[in-house]
Amino acid sequence: MNIRILNSREDLNATAAAVIAGLLLTKPQAMLGLATGSTPIGIYRHLADMYRKGQVSFARAYAVNLDEYVGLSQNHPQSYRNFMNEHLFRHIDIPIPHTHIPDGNANDLEAECAAHEQAILEHGPVDLQLLGIGHNGHIGFNEPGHSLTGYTHVVDLDERTRTANARFFGHIDAVPKQAVTMGVGTILKAKQIILVAFGADKADIIKRALTGPVTTACPASLLQCHPNVLILLDQEAGGWFH
Ligand code: PGA
Repeated sequence: MNIRILNSREDLNATAAAVIAGLLLTKPQAMLGLATGSTPIGIYRHLADMYRKGQVSFARAYAVNLDEYVGLSQNHPQSYRNFMNEHLFRHIDIPIPHTHIPDGNANDLEAECAAHEQAILEHGPVDLQLLGIGHNGHIGFNEPGHSLTGYTHVVDLDERTRTANARFFGHIDAVPKQAVTMGVGTILKAKQIILVAFGADKADIIKRALTGPVTTACPASLLQCHPNVLILLDQEAGGWFH
């Protein structure tokens, strides 16, 4: 694993955006694996800026997202489809039919999971997967447990995850109890993975994920098995690494 500790969040966002833009310069039709949550917002802002300045185009790129809440319509303000539209897609030139996010409101969620895998098979593999990390070590919505699921599947959200995400919904009761998520196997098939974390509250779980045992009790620890992972941390999240 290549671990880089950046001086500031701005540096971290700019570095991640530069890696993504660099990939698109060499491979305009690349498939990007994208993430939601507070972590990637600054990276998407940088990418939108770079697009406005003519430094990068997404016109031939594909995007596949990690996850989506079950039970939210795609235009619900907290749906991840809406998040992606607001924070990235409407600011760049990616064709919306090139973007794949499971519909968490679909009648047949199993079919929705299979369609997500199929989109990755058709246009992938994922060239670069962007990841955040949950305080419990989840990647996507692969929550810690006795076992993990390889492929895209429906998952019961951990109470810690629902509590952390209650800030977006106003109240924990409004946070969905389930989500559709890429499996850890789906994630590990990406050619390159960038995991980004900032803030002191992520330091402990980052240390566990990068230096602790590889275990389903910390899904991010499975990244230790991937040959091409870049970890980008700010001083607070990575201060222990010296
Ligand atoms: P955050 O979430 O970016 O809002 O901290 C990360 C995650 O849960 O994967």
